[in-house]
Amino acid sequence: MAGRAEAAVHRHDMVVIGAGLSGLRAAIELSDAGLDTTVISKVLPLRSHSVAAQGGINASLGNVAGEDGAMDSWEAHAYDTVKGSDYLADQDAVEVMCREAPRTVIELEHMGTVFSRLENGYIAQRPFGGAMFPRTCYAADRTGHNILNTLYEQALDREIRFYEEYYTTALVRDGGRCTGCTAIELLTGRVHGFAAKAVLLATGGFGRLYSRSTNALINTGDGVALALCAGVPLKDMEFIQFHPTTLFGTNILITEGARGEGGRLYNSNNERFMERYAPHSLDLAPRDVVARAIEEEIAAGRGFEGGYVYLDLTHLGADHIRARLPGIRQIAMDFAGIDPITDPIPVQPGQHYSMGGIDVNNRGETRLPGLYAAGECACSSVHGANRLGGNSLLETVAFGKLVARAIVQNTQGLPAPATDAVRSRAASEQERIDVLLGRKTGENLFAIMDDLKDTMFEYFGIFRDERHMKEGISRLERLQERFERVHVKNKSRVFNQALIRLLELEDMLLLAAVLAQSALRRRESRGSHTRTDFPARDDEHFLAHTLAHLRDSAIDLEYEPVRLGMFEPTEREY
Ligand code: FUM
Repeated sequence: MAGRAEAAVHRHDMVVIGAGLSGLRAAIELSDAGLDTTVISKVLPLRSHSVAAQGGINASLGNVAGEDGAMDSWEAHAYDTVKGSDYLADQDAVEVMCREAPRTVIELEHMGTVFSRLENGYIAQRPFGGAMFPRTCYAADRTGHNILNTLYEQALDREIRFYEEYYTTALVRDGGRCTGCTAIELLTGRVHGFAAKAVLLATGGFGRLYSRSTNALINTGDGVALALCAGVPLKDMEFIQFHPTTLFGTNILITEGARGEGGRLYNSNNERFMERYAPHSLDLAPRDVVARAIEEEIAAGRGFEGGYVYLDLTHLGADHIRARLPGIRQIAMDFAGIDPITDPIPVQPGQHYSMGGIDVNNRGETRLPGLYAAGECACSSVHGANRLGGNSLLETVAFGKLVARAIVQNTQGLPAPATDAVRSRAASEQERIDVLLGRKTGENLFAIMDDLKDTMFEYFGIFRDERHMKEGISRLERLQERFERVHVKNKSRVFNQALIRLLELEDMLLLAAVLAQSALRRRESRGSHTRTDFPARDDEHFLAHTLAHLRDSAIDLEYEPVRLGMFEPTEREY
């Protein structure tokens, strides 16, 4: 039996967990600095969720002038980001990101990313929500696909070692440091140990906690839960972004770039209802504003049956749609039988992004020496209570590189890590998995997972209030009880996907509980967190980050002040 054999232990200078944009960008930087770097990924790298990013990446290149002929700057980018965040973003981190943005895009271009172009040959930039200038660089509407392929090629060129289809089960702590991790090799069901001077989590978000989501099925928050269980706090987990335009029926993303190109939202009375909610920015208000507006229209009976509104692109013309939005045209045709050249697209809000995550500073350092995080799994916090479209790809690539640089500095002179703690953790993880597989009967894991997703959408969705959230928390507690009796029918060691779903579900339940408690305690409305019982923003009590710790298996919340800077909090108007 696999559990009886001694675990294989691999030794590298550096382990990166996750092969999306931040993981790959970091791995490239680490490798260039001479560190023996390996990447562990639960899927083949090109299946990482970054591949699905559509609309673009923000940088104040200033290739397209603003409304009054003014030119973009990193300060304008920072202002939009902080205002968009409803002033919850840490302004030092925002400054780092916005200053780095132009360099990030140019580096990607030099590495081989095929950006769309203006007539003059410069990188094209389109308007995105909440931005004063056309700032979003793009590759039609397949920007993530382009960048991911670029970075993967660069990583292969450097002969970085990939452990593909390995699912990480635990971080290893030894002598007050993170010294590695353990992971199941999906092909064999064997647990391996990985010893390293440092570990970088780049595992993406946890959108699949929700039933209506644009996220890949793999976005189950594994890395976020790993950090919490290793004693690292999570930050601002209550802030969940709902993208205004997901395809009705499947919730596949319909890029904000469609509105950036001139697409318009209509209700069932054929009104451009955004005139009422954001008289200046209209359809290009930030996502929290537009998502709430759509939900309010639907609730007021001005949506279409089933709960959607229309996104109309027909006036853009066939050539423009084919050139700039080929991906969403294909999606609309394949999944809704609608050609946006001739007909409007039915859309509704759906979960899209996790603003919160592993608490890190603006160098990606967690409070556990040796453990770092970058990308959507991390919360530095550049997005605060509401992220602007186009800032996610930027964060992944910019911080992927910057965090790698911090790691290079911090690991200089460190000896190769001892392997004993990793070896013994790998053995105990193998035993844990054997016990799970040994259960003959019990609860069906997929039934629990479906209930979890529905509970999160219903009780912790766009609009929240105390009564419903308390009911939601009771439901989550009952799901946790059911999970204690869960079992998998498939007992195979080879590519046992049900086993992996079970391990993911354990993490999802933990994160759902943290999110729920954090949302209940924040008695104000800010960005994406809309409390119908506390409709106003309350800077006196909540201009602060929620920090969630796991102590003796219980969730413990505390608050830490936001780091302000150039921009004083004021009321947001769009
Ligand atoms: O709408 C979009 O293309 C999404 C972009 C983003 O989340 O940054």
